[in-house]
Amino acid sequence: MCGIVAYIGNKEAYPIIIEGLRRLEYRGYDSAGVSILNGDIHTYKKKGKVKDLEDFVEGKNKSGTLGIGHTRWATHGRPNDKNAHPHNSGNSDLTLVHNGIIENYASLKEALAELGHTFTSDTDTEILVHLIEEYQKRDDLSLEKAVQKALKKAVGAYAIVVFDKKSPNKIVGARKSSPLVLGLGKDEFFLASDATPIIKFTNKVIYLNDEEIVTVNRDGSYEVVTLDDEVQNHEVKEIDLKIEELEKGGYDHFMLKEIHQQPTTIFESMRGRINAEEGWILVGGMQDHMKRMVDADRIIIAACGTSWHAGLIGEYLFEDLARVPVEVEYASELRYRNPVIRERDVVLALSQSGETADTLAALEMARNKGALLYGIVNNVGSSIARFTDCGSYIHAGPEIGVASTKAFTSQLVVLTLMALNLAKEKGTISEGYFRKLLYAMEDIPKKVEQILTLDEQIKYIATEIKDAPNALYLGRGYNFPIALEGALKLKEISYIHAEGYPAAEMKHGPIALIDESMPVIVMATNVSAYEKIVSNIQEVKARKGMVIAIVTEGDTEIKKIADYTIEIPETEEPLSPLLSVIPLQMLSYHIAVLRNCNVDQPRNLAKSVTVE
Ligand code: F6R
Repeated sequence: MCGIVAYIGNKEAYPIIIEGLRRLEYRGYDSAGVSILNGDIHTYKKKGKVKDLEDFVEGKNKSGTLGIGHTRWATHGRPNDKNAHPHNSGNSDLTLVHNGIIENYASLKEALAELGHTFTSDTDTEILVHLIEEYQKRDDLSLEKAVQKALKKAVGAYAIVVFDKKSPNKIVGARKSSPLVLGLGKDEFFLASDATPIIKFTNKVIYLNDEEIVTVNRDGSYEVVTLDDEVQNHEVKEIDLKIEELEKGGYDHFMLKEIHQQPTTIFESMRGRINAEEGWILVGGMQDHMKRMVDADRIIIAACGTSWHAGLIGEYLFEDLARVPVEVEYASELRYRNPVIRERDVVLALSQSGETADTLAALEMARNKGALLYGIVNNVGSSIARFTDCGSYIHAGPEIGVASTKAFTSQLVVLTLMALNLAKEKGTISEGYFRKLLYAMEDIPKKVEQILTLDEQIKYIATEIKDAPNALYLGRGYNFPIALEGALKLKEISYIHAEGYPAAEMKHGPIALIDESMPVIVMATNVSAYEKIVSNIQEVKARKGMVIAIVTEGDTEIKKIADYTIEIPETEEPLSPLLSVIPLQMLSYHIAVLRNCNVDQPRNLAKSVTVE
């Protein structure tokens, strides 16, 4: 949430910062702004997208080789020009961008106001820049020392970048609970919320830790210290990210590209971890901790949103195959109640971004209780990946569309492989069934490819239901979480109200909503509960609901009663979510496009939720 980018070097800063902001726009698009140093600080900020900022800055003085930029997801203060970042100090010497929330901003603001500071925005951020200014003035401190002192007073989460026109050869950045990456180029430095704005210039980065402050200087030197002034020597990492991975690659939207990448991304998530012919599975992250995992009393899965839905399927997988009790928790709830977590528990955190504040906080709480922490993360080098004791990357590549698609299926792949690996170690699965599932896993990418060819049919169904005010998604067993995920995808990108329900629960309430204007999307691929699903469909039809059923190829029975059927290839039931979610992603995508919604940047959302 909120994207930060900063540059110091020999090149013009503005084009680098604007391009960086475009790459970070998925983190928030309520407003954007830049400050460029050229003798004086030139600050430009605008409500809306990065494009609106570019139009506004057109023709204005933006030359300079040092600058900072920000794209905002509003927390404190409405999305408008005055609340856009950067925020400048009262004496106009300092300019600062911030991602996070300063929770004690109100008391700090009061104290600063008493000292004569006046504020021009409604943000918590502006308080910080005034506080730094105050310490500089009162104690005659350098920028980095004043930042250090100010951050010691701040309660909350922050990634900040700030510069001072009186120190024109340095930029200072700091982080706590919000990400900040330092890019080391040749005679130039970059600071950004993630590596995407940096990769065009250098693949050498340092991931800052919480409560660290970095000072980068024009002479090529830099220093990282803690809030307590201890010098930190970080290993410089080389990141493996290609610029093409950050482009739409000919697709109309990132979401469409990411849906269509899934045959490849699912394969990538499995690569080197499975061999059906030779009959093995090997999940690297588990190996060093296998005994602890085999002996675990419980697995607790903590996640948010779509990742939480993947976690629910994880529960079915681990319990079904490896016979270990599983609890799936919203990270935001887990962190604030007083849960029973013991040393013999394994806490599994699922997160595409690896930066979700609630998931990270739940992990911190679980670490204090002694559980083993395992991360299943997409974003390499992210906070959750670094915080956990062990883990597995899902290798889906950068996911830029705000609605998660390919990360979800890759999370399912890793969960399935982990459950199978554990089942094998514990001896809870027969050799025959193990082999069968391995072969079925290897077949998934080509089956997903086959589903993607149904695009025209799914688009047609989308035209039929695009104006519905509500939609209901039903599923059973492994496909119940897919009903939840289908409903979430529709809600977030098309703004149609949708609910996911276990099919049998419909009778206990939601059936009251069903009439001819209510599309009901039913996951009907389960072999084990087939007859029961058929009955649920009959119940909807008896009340004039419109049924769209996702069925297994060759199904004839449901075809007779449903209004539309989408036929997908058969697979083993534990793997069926990997296939049944694909048509739901496609359906939501087409409905959103037909409703002229901004598919990649839905209103009010942001991709990386780094605030509580
Ligand atoms: C929905 C979506 C969100 C995320 C959630 C968790 O399409 O993308 O619900 O799944 O914000 O994010 P991560 O997985 O980054 O922790």
